[in-house]
Amino acid sequence: MRGKFITFEGCEGVGKSRQIGYVKELFEQKNIEYVATREPGGPEIAEKIRALILDAENAAMCAECEALLYAAARAQHVSEVILPALESGKTVLCDRYIDSSLAYQAYARGLGETFVKDINAFALKAVPDLTLFLDLPPEAAFARKGGADEHDRVELSGAAFHKKVYEGYLKVCETYPGRIVKIDCSGTREQTRAKIAEVLAARGML
Ligand code: TYD
Repeated sequence: MRGKFITFEGCEGVGKSRQIGYVKELFEQKNIEYVATREPGGPEIAEKIRALILDAENAAMCAECEALLYAAARAQHVSEVILPALESGKTVLCDRYIDSSLAYQAYARGLGETFVKDINAFALKAVPDLTLFLDLPPEAAFARKGGADEHDRVELSGAAFHKKVYEGYLKVCETYPGRIVKIDCSGTREQTRAKIAEVLAARGML
């Protein structure tokens, strides 16, 4: 049986990595086989593309180039990691996926949904069964995180950009209400963890 594909989305600093760590613990307790991976990145080729995209020295990178690089990294990731894992029956936990491209590139950078969907059409081979949107507005998330990372080109894009990303995510949530579940992250880590466990259990994924 094909494995389940679960993706995690949200603005910078919402605590995605920590929550994914908690989900991994849950899966281990229940002996569910999984592969945990991330975007941009995953396999070596995609990690090399990630370094190019996030390098703060590449400030001149145009929005189209950025979107195509995310899509290129994703193509390699889907074919080398995600599809083989799903086909072997494993659950895939992925930190960011296509919805990041919709929120960041289509909405916040203004490239539009059609362009971003077209260059990511191959990703239809691996559509998430569930996407958890960790919902925390960027002002709150950056305050928690203690500001932007000065080596990360995307984090340095400014408050107005991150506000647009958040609005983009809200639109994406409205467009795919069956697939995406919003998780309110304004409480404690433990409260967020419990909400996520509840959703996974309700969907028969735990
Ligand atoms: P990362 O350090 O992994 O951020 P985070 O810990 O918040 O997930 O950097 C990934 C950055 O790339 C993040 O700013 C979001 C951005 N991104 C896009 O703009 N489009 C995409 O398709 C993906 C996957 C990520």
